[in-house]
Amino acid sequence: MLNSHAPYDAFKTIEWTEEGVRMLDQTRLPAEEIYRTYTDYREVAEAIRSMVIRGAPAIGVAAAMGVALGIKHSAAKDAAELRADFERIAETLSKTRPTAVNLFWAVKRMRGVFEKSLSCQAAEAPGLDSVRKALEAEAQRILTEDIAINEAMGRHGADLMPDAGTILTHCNAGALATGGYGTALGVIRAAIGAGKKLQVFADETRPFLQGARLTAWELAKDHIPVTLITDNMAGHFMKQGEIRAVIVGADRIAANGDTANKIGTYSVAVLAHENGIPFYVAAPLSTIDMSLVGGDLIPIEERSAAEVTQLAGVTIAPQGVPARHPAFDVTPHRYITAIITERGVAREPFTDSLRGLFAE
Ligand code: MRU
Repeated sequence: MLNSHAPYDAFKTIEWTEEGVRMLDQTRLPAEEIYRTYTDYREVAEAIRSMVIRGAPAIGVAAAMGVALGIKHSAAKDAAELRADFERIAETLSKTRPTAVNLFWAVKRMRGVFEKSLSCQAAEAPGLDSVRKALEAEAQRILTEDIAINEAMGRHGADLMPDAGTILTHCNAGALATGGYGTALGVIRAAIGAGKKLQVFADETRPFLQGARLTAWELAKDHIPVTLITDNMAGHFMKQGEIRAVIVGADRIAANGDTANKIGTYSVAVLAHENGIPFYVAAPLSTIDMSLVGGDLIPIEERSAAEVTQLAGVTIAPQGVPARHPAFDVTPHRYITAIITERGVAREPFTDSLRGLFAE
């Protein structure tokens, strides 16, 4: 039995409404639970960039809804004008965040539906309305599918979790980072739903504090025992024998299993390896980029240094001292025990194992 208080019932990360795309503003959590409705695709792009919505699968859903919203409000009178609008919308959304491949995956999927429905319609105004409807339907399908995919990942991953003990996670790979339920946190939810006695240690995840602000918030809301630690405590608790397993999400996985995820994930993986603790990645197939042979090819987003030099709006570093802010790092596949997907679990050699999952 899955936890009946699953947080995708308690809040909706993102949804399509008649008025526009509605999102829970994650920059305001945990202090305030504010929902925003965007009526213009450029606002959706800005919401992705500024991390009102974040997490690879949620970014994918937002991008798909952004495309549908842009086309819905397009004033195009013929197919050529609508296609030009599609390109403009796709480009704006694609320029928001470079690492999470789900963004590009979603835009590509929307493009496929756009071209297909355009080719089936009369090239004038009435026919274009059904193209608009097709894109709205596809964006909503991407959302519903994402929740089902997370639940499937939960079923595959639950068996890998110990019967009892503490699981460490980094960043937020939960309902907030997806259409609902979560990837890494979905596996934990499913394991608890299956009767395992787990508790979670959440790394605070400097500098954006997804662990402190978001993971702690959604797990507490779901009555899953969660303890917050700062990032530099993980090694200590592993060495003390307090951590049974680590599970994280991913923003992009290369064909060989190398995994880009929130900055700091690599350090956690090395520490887990050093301490003989299994390190799991949970991600949908839409996060796996089989076009890249290895993780060195994954583009890493560099965000504003101000996110490092300031904490909750307070400057914590001397004026003028430069800071760096790579938002992600790449964990080499040799540190990854298994990758949990909706189609099953991949293990070394990942290139064969992942290819096999795509072929199913
Ligand atoms: O910068 P963010 O908050 O978008 O980064 C999110 C992560 O790194 C998540 O772990 C990843 O996207 C997986 S979410 C299921």
